[in-house]
Amino acid sequence: MDNPVLQTLLSHRSVRKFTSQKPSEEVLHTIVRAGQQAPFASQLYSVLLTRKKAPFGAPLWFTICVDLYKLERFMKIRGWSVVSNDLSLLLFGFQDAALMAENMVIAGESLGLGSCFLGNTPYQADRIQKRYKLPQRVFPLVELIMGYTGEDFPPRPRYPLEFTLFEDEYPQMSDEMVKEAMKVMDEGYLAQGYYRKLKAKIRIEDKGKKETFTYDDYSWTEHISRKWGQWLTDPQELLVQLEKCGFKIGEKRLPNTMDPKDSTEHQKEDV
Ligand SMILES: Cc1cc2nc3c(=O)[nH]c(=O)nc-3n(C[C@H](O)[C@H](O)[C@H](O)COP(=O)(O)O)c2cc1C
Repeated sequence: MDNPVLQTLLSHRSVRKFTSQKPSEEVLHTIVRAGQQAPFASQLYSVLLTRKKAPFGAPLWFTICVDLYKLERFMKIRGWSVVSNDLSLLLFGFQDAALMAENMVIAGESLGLGSCFLGNTPYQADRIQKRYKLPQRVFPLVELIMGYTGEDFPPRPRYPLEFTLFEDEYPQMSDEMVKEAMKVMDEGYLAQGYYRKLKAKIRIEDKGKKETFTYDDYSWTEHISRKWGQWLTDPQELLVQLEKCGFKIGEKRLPNTMDPKDSTEHQKEDV
């Protein structure tokens, strides 16, 4: 079970240090073409690029967007308008955009480039919208920086396969099973000094809760617990950003009068 594709996939690492070498136009276009060739529901994405002042000094800075604008433009030419609700369209758009983005990562790695996603993008959607003059119905989902790799370290750990692949039935999950998976993750990140190097310990916000961790024992499960145990309690911030980009979650659409067929009959069709 060994071939160049598997070797690329299994040696993936997020890279945060780049050489000064600039990828050629051919390399850039090949990476984006490979991204486009990912499976799609409706190609609900666009890729923005800048080569200016990228984080971590990367030569390429992509922003992968969910894009309904292009869909609506061609539907209009065909005499249709969208009646599907924005939540459903966004879910398909997220999948299309994520698959395309990951294909870009793999293509880049196969050509010797490294990359790193930046996940705060949706919370800065309004700023990105202005910077790139985005039309309504385009939502910046995630940024991806890319360039020739300027650091070397082994791949980071993942959960054991038994904690991920469940055939026929979701297992009765004992604490021992959970703890074993935690151990694999925590020891793997500690062995690389990952959080120490990045100085990435998340502060405890609750004044009544004492900090007991140092970089000797602060690792992945504590880090992830601190994120989702403290942040993003209110969905409003994101809903506002979505609205600024022209998306309304939770709103029912009126049936399209131009559509001769009853729209409910088409909701379950393959996309
Ligand atoms: C959606 C998403 C958002 C991410 N956001 C960030 C980020 O903001 N900053 C960062 O340094 N890494 C970010 N990462 C990279 C992850 O930290 C990294 O993929 C994870 O720790 C696993 O490490 P590996 O990719 O080296 O295997 C993000 C990854 C994904 C998929």
